[in-house]
Amino acid sequence: MKLIITKNYEELSKKAADEMADIIKSNPKAILGLATGGSPMGMYKELIKMNKEGKVDFSNVTTVNLDEYIGLSGDHPQSYRYFMNENLFNHINIDKTNTYVPNGLAKNIEEECKEYDARITELGGTDVQLLGIGNNGHIAFNEPDNELLSGTHLTKLTEDTIKANARFFESIDEVPTQALTMGLGGIMRSKKIIVIASGESKAEAVKAMVSGKISTNMPASMLQMHRNVTVIVDEAAAKLL
Ligand code: PGA
Repeated sequence: MKLIITKNYEELSKKAADEMADIIKSNPKAILGLATGGSPMGMYKELIKMNKEGKVDFSNVTTVNLDEYIGLSGDHPQSYRYFMNENLFNHINIDKTNTYVPNGLAKNIEEECKEYDARITELGGTDVQLLGIGNNGHIAFNEPDNELLSGTHLTKLTEDTIKANARFFESIDEVPTQALTMGLGGIMRSKKIIVIASGESKAEAVKAMVSGKISTNMPASMLQMHRNVTVIVDEAAAKLL
């Protein structure tokens, strides 16, 4: 794992945006695996700025997101489709038909998962997968467990995750309890992985990801087995390294 420690969140966001922009510059048709949450918001702002300044062109880029809440439609303000539109897609020159987020309203969940994986395979896999990390070590919605799944699947969110995500909702009761998530196989098959984490609350998980024992109870530790991972963390998140 390549480790980059930045002074603060702003520097982290710039660094991550530069990494992403370099991938697009070297391959204008890049397939980007994207993530939602607090961690990538600054990076997305930087990418929007770069796009407006003509420094990075998204017109031939395709994106594949990691996850989506069950039961929320794409126009629900807390859905991950809505998040991506608001925080990135609406502000850059991307063709939205080339942006994929699992459908949290799919009638046939099993079919939706299969199609999502088939689409990623058809695209030739992701060139880069961006990841945040949960306080509990989850990546996407692959929660700590005795076993992890490879393909895209339906998952139940842990209490920790529901609590952590309640900050985006009016009350904790509104946080969906289930989600569709890309599995470990989908993530690990990406050619490159970039993990970003900011703040002291992530320090334990970051330490376990970088140097802990590999365990399904710490999903991020699986990333130690990938050959091209860049971890970008600010000083607070790197505190225990
Ligand atoms: P965050 O979430 O970026 O909102 O901290 C990360 C995650 O839960 O994977």
